[in-house]
Amino acid sequence: MKVAVITSSDSGYKGERQDLSGPLIQEMVTEAGYVVEKALLLPDDRQMLKEAMTRIADNEEACLILTTGGTGFSQRDCMPEATMDVVERPVPGIPEAIRAYSMTITKRAMLSRAAAGIRKNTLIINLPGSPKAVRESLEYILPELKHGLEILLGETSNCARRE
Ligand code: MTE
Repeated sequence: MKVAVITSSDSGYKGERQDLSGPLIQEMVTEAGYVVEKALLLPDDRQMLKEAMTRIADNEEACLILTTGGTGFSQRDCMPEATMDVVERPVPGIPEAIRAYSMTITKRAMLSRAAAGIRKNTLIINLPGSPKAVRESLEYILPELKHGLEILLGETSNCARRE
């Protein structure tokens, strides 16, 4: 199954900070048997994030979009809003599960506004920005994702086609 990774970070986009979270997601999903089709580093810009997610979903470039960053309280953080702009069917259980599990590690997990949902044949999931938070969140949900994606895709989608 194909995955797209989107990092939302003004400083990463400007080259002022190295994006470690996007590459970590790529490493973890590859290890889990997914194929990373695309990795984008974008600024915290709702329109640009929205357009990128729409393009990937509508062209069936990936059946799973994992985002990192932009879920907190900073004025520029807009990943959940961009995600909900493009989502047709919300999937609240995934961010609920991530926050519930993460709060057993740090109560600051309650500060993540992450969202998730489905557009056409693509599941979009927001993860927080730090590599630590990415690892903790993703290792918790990864084992359950394949089952959900198999149901979502049925037999009909190109984005699960094996390379
Ligand atoms: N979730 C986990 N599992 N581990 C963490 O360390 N950090 C939290 C939260 N979620 C954290 C976590 C913190 S401190 C913040 S501010 C929010 O994610 C939002 O992060 P973001 O703005 O980088 O997306």
